[in-house]
Amino acid sequence: MTTASHPPTATNPYLAGNFAPILEETTAFDLRISGSLPAELDGRLLRIGPNPPGLADPERHHWFIGSGMTHGVRLRDGSAEWYRSRYVIDDEVVRALGRAPLSGPHHGMGGGGANTNVIGIGGRTFAIVEAGSLPVELTDELECIARNDFDGTLPGSFTAHPKVDPDTGDLHAVVYYWEWDYVQYVVVGADARVKHAANIAVPGKPMTHDCAISASQVVVFDLPCTFDLEMAMSGPTLPYRWTPDYGARVGLIPKFGSADEVRWCELDEPCYVYHPMNAVDQADGTVVMEAVVHPSTFADDLRGPNEGGTTFERWTIDPKAGRVRRAVLDDTSQEFPRHHEGLIGKPYRYGYAAQFDSIGPNESLRLGSLLKHDLANGTTERHEVGAGRASNEAVFVPRLGAETEDDGWVLAYVYDGATDTSDIIVVDAQDFTGEPVARVHLPVRVPFGFHGNWVPTARV
Ligand SMILES: [Fe+2]
Repeated sequence: MTTASHPPTATNPYLAGNFAPILEETTAFDLRISGSLPAELDGRLLRIGPNPPGLADPERHHWFIGSGMTHGVRLRDGSAEWYRSRYVIDDEVVRALGRAPLSGPHHGMGGGGANTNVIGIGGRTFAIVEAGSLPVELTDELECIARNDFDGTLPGSFTAHPKVDPDTGDLHAVVYYWEWDYVQYVVVGADARVKHAANIAVPGKPMTHDCAISASQVVVFDLPCTFDLEMAMSGPTLPYRWTPDYGARVGLIPKFGSADEVRWCELDEPCYVYHPMNAVDQADGTVVMEAVVHPSTFADDLRGPNEGGTTFERWTIDPKAGRVRRAVLDDTSQEFPRHHEGLIGKPYRYGYAAQFDSIGPNESLRLGSLLKHDLANGTTERHEVGAGRASNEAVFVPRLGAETEDDGWVLAYVYDGATDTSDIIVVDAQDFTGEPVARVHLPVRVPFGFHGNWVPTARV
């Protein structure tokens, strides 16, 4: 069974191939498995991406825009019990598909959807997005329950990239919205209720996609991709573009700190970070952060982040000097950095990322293999997913009782162009270049989309 999709448009690469939305929700049980699925993988592998059911202007369609569709596979006892894909119901899904609207509060002018990440908090599941719309709470089987502002505690909107402190379960997040002259630092407790917020003034309206946390600090990005009112007024697109004269800086705010405690550190050249990997406090007062760095974003390509290769870098954020020092660790173009999430904010050795060849405006991004960085040795291994196949973000799942950092599995959705379907690969992280120990075969394709997480049964 292949997957119905909108007709590909020759001129918008974000509507072609496995970037294209799919038209149906799917439910499938007892999925076929090749190899041997580790029995202790007990939970759900979730992910999400934009999947607009209608397109007002396909030529201008931006990859980041449109109703979300969640995808999930339930693994237990060496079997794959189900695969489900479900729309995240927003105004567009109601309008285009005649679905019943969701209840719950609204924030701002968005259509009430979420398309960028799907997370578990305190035994609940939320689809989340940045820049306006509120989280949408989902059932374990990915049906929408309602929009939710963390039960009335969220002061504004939210982000797709909260960072979980592994010692406390608190989620630290940096939120932005186009009407604000600040970015908002928010802490959500493990009970999914906001427990701290601070408004950090910024000189413009930057797109602040993600943040990082060390043991003591939150890293705040104030980078030169900013809101453009003219674009916003011109129709459905992402109204942010490259503004190199804005400057580029990174702030450090103590966890649970106030806005007047932010220490800003300037970058020598404009650049853009969608995704840091991790950040660690150093004895000399600096914070060292690894991140994927784009030379620019939305300068020439206004439909996606595709303006030349990225670099995997180490940034030394030095609040005494007020500067950020950059060093390239790997010039392989990549994105979607992840690592062992029990080590968020702590010293770590291994990181994972996905091939992400940005070859220029209006060309298709080339996705493909997976990378494993050894930060101690300065080496990178590559897991080839096979000819005609492509992955994107991978998730590391530690083995229960593991005593070494990379004792576990790397799980990723992989698209197979030959069958126009996707599968999940389970790779032994200590045999990263080897064949997957298991593949879970799905009946349909899963569009490349953005982010996801492994939600173990204890948190289901
Ligand atoms: Fe992201």
